Amino acid sequence: METDLHEDCEKLLFSAEEIASGTRSVAALLDEAYRGTTPVAVCVLKGAVFFFCDLLRAMRTPAEIEFLRASSYRRGATSGTLCVDDALSFEPRGRDILLVEDIVDSGKTLRSLKASLLERGAKSVKTVTLLDKPSARKVSFEVDYKVFDVGAGFVVGYGMDYAEKYRKLPYIALLKPAMYGG
Ligand code: IMP
Ligand code: MG
Repeated sequence: METDLHEDCEKLLFSAEEIASGTRSVAALLDEAYRGTTPVAVCVLKGAVFFFCDLLRAMRTPAEIEFLRASSYRRGATSGTLCVDDALSFEPRGRDILLVEDIVDSGKTLRSLKASLLERGAKSVKTVTLLDKPSARKVSFEVDYKVFDVGAGFVVGYGMDYAEKYRKLPYIALLKPAMYGG
């Protein structure tokens, strides 16, 4: 197990063990909420991938799994333009959908994904995130379930990247501001 903090990181925020235990607690809440139903759990790629796999395996609910790509904000586009892959590989109509995200920052990604799934006839849409950064909200959005809150600063690891780096770190850490020109 990789335990040494990456040299580009300033501080360890959550260890692999803390993430695993927090994920199990949220899985139990979701099992309660989805009792007797078969929801579609949707992984928001790429950042949520490790959280998604761990969360789904910790849940007893017989969820189906799907993936969608809501990759950041298209480079060169007006800032704030969300680039969502419109070609869903599943039919949301009439389904209970659980959107699984790595981190809620401005709130734009989950807010727009949720609205779009409801517009396409989803029966319900709940959201779960590994990290919530409430101080960074630019639109009003409240996530239904979260594992941890984080303060300001850019975080990496456990799926989360900066310019595609650091995703595979098994822990969550604060990136040194010098690494992203902050
Ligand atoms: P939102 O639409 O601003 O809420 O942001 C959502 C996306 O931005 C997340 O799914 C992440 O992929 C990315 N993001 C926001 N803050 C961070 C961070 O601190 N580290 C890594 N990715 C982040
Ligand atoms: Mg994400």
